[in-house]
Amino acid sequence: MNFDLAPQHEAFRASVRELAQGVAEPLAAEVDRDHRFPEEAVAAAASAGLMGVLIPQQYGGAGLDALAFTLCIEELAQACASTSVIIDVHTSVGSEPILLFGTEEQRRRWLPRLASGELLGAFALTEPAAGSDAASLKTSARRVGGDYVLNGTKVFITNIGRAGVYIVFARTGPDERAAGISAFIVPADSQGLRVGQVFRKMGLNGSPTGELVLENVSVPAANRLAAEGEGFTVAMRALDSGRIGISGQALGIAQAAVDQARALLVARPREQGDDFTLADLATRVESARLLAYQAAWLCSRGKPFTREASMAKLHCTDTAMAVALDALQLAGEEGVVSGSPFERHMRDAKALQIYEGSNQIQRHVIARDLLR
Ligand code: CAA
Repeated sequence: MNFDLAPQHEAFRASVRELAQGVAEPLAAEVDRDHRFPEEAVAAAASAGLMGVLIPQQYGGAGLDALAFTLCIEELAQACASTSVIIDVHTSVGSEPILLFGTEEQRRRWLPRLASGELLGAFALTEPAAGSDAASLKTSARRVGGDYVLNGTKVFITNIGRAGVYIVFARTGPDERAAGISAFIVPADSQGLRVGQVFRKMGLNGSPTGELVLENVSVPAANRLAAEGEGFTVAMRALDSGRIGISGQALGIAQAAVDQARALLVARPREQGDDFTLADLATRVESARLLAYQAAWLCSRGKPFTREASMAKLHCTDTAMAVALDALQLAGEEGVVSGSPFERHMRDAKALQIYEGSNQIQRHVIARDLLR
């Protein structure tokens, strides 16, 4: 067993860290305070090739593996959680379905533009009445000649209004559950597609989240991903690797909280127990990291990883929330002042326990696999 990162992973992590600390971190507080999109950080990530980490070189990407992706998101999140979720959703659920399920023509058409960052990707599964129970979604896609006509409303869509392309899940068949669902590549400039309400959130404020409204949006049949009725499998497979990315995001937020707590304790007189608290925080993050890297390692090797991805997502995001809270407690009054990194980490961590499958859903996926 070898816990060392390979030299290429080490080098990649160092290069992402330099970019994240140099460009994203200095913006993090302002992006949070002003609820503004971190343009500069996303542009710098695109210039450095970070928008196509998982996309093979033949389609213009870096051709790296799931572990590199996890390291990338972890480093970005340590600097700015908003930047990390924008790039995470773009890379995993916003682009990977085209790589995994697209035809050669679809890959050639869309992946180079996603890899370069010319297009930002997004994933439109959730609906107002279909969140955790994704298979009950109602958006319809009716076949009309060589096109599908999409109608429905998607909600809580990350990268809303910024995405150039949405992976949209809609019902094409009579089956009322998973078997009736298909997946579509829907360009953001399609007629009838519009942004609905954009939410003001408690955290991840630089990452836009909102409603996607589809009113008679006509999409060529060539934009359907996989066969009719296979859309739910596309969504579930995309979410498996997406959950590894969210684990990386959680690790980054948690590590930032630990590092800031440590800096505080070095700089001020320590009270009894402070050093034990710090030791507990660091230990929790390190144990969570092992689960996340294991899930990424399994995915990189083409082994089954659904259960491990859910375990990583569950444990890393619960850890991030707990560590952010305890670090804030350690910081004391300084931590609760609006704009302090401690309160930002606490607000940023919360959504991670909810999105890409709530942690109750992760428990369901883990238990289902154990009891199979
Ligand atoms: N990989 C491939 N296929 C899978 C799969 C996986 N991991 N999990 C299930 N499937 C397939 C099954 O094999 C089954 O196919 P067959 O009928 O052909 O066998 C089909 O999908 C249906 O599976 P289930 O019966 O298990 O489906 P279910 O209705 O019981 O739901 C669920 C399962 C796990 C609860 C699912 O609904 C789920 O993951 N819900 C959470 C949704 C979610 O994570 N939403 C996040 C939205 S995106 C977001 O938050 C992103 C963001 O912007 C930050």
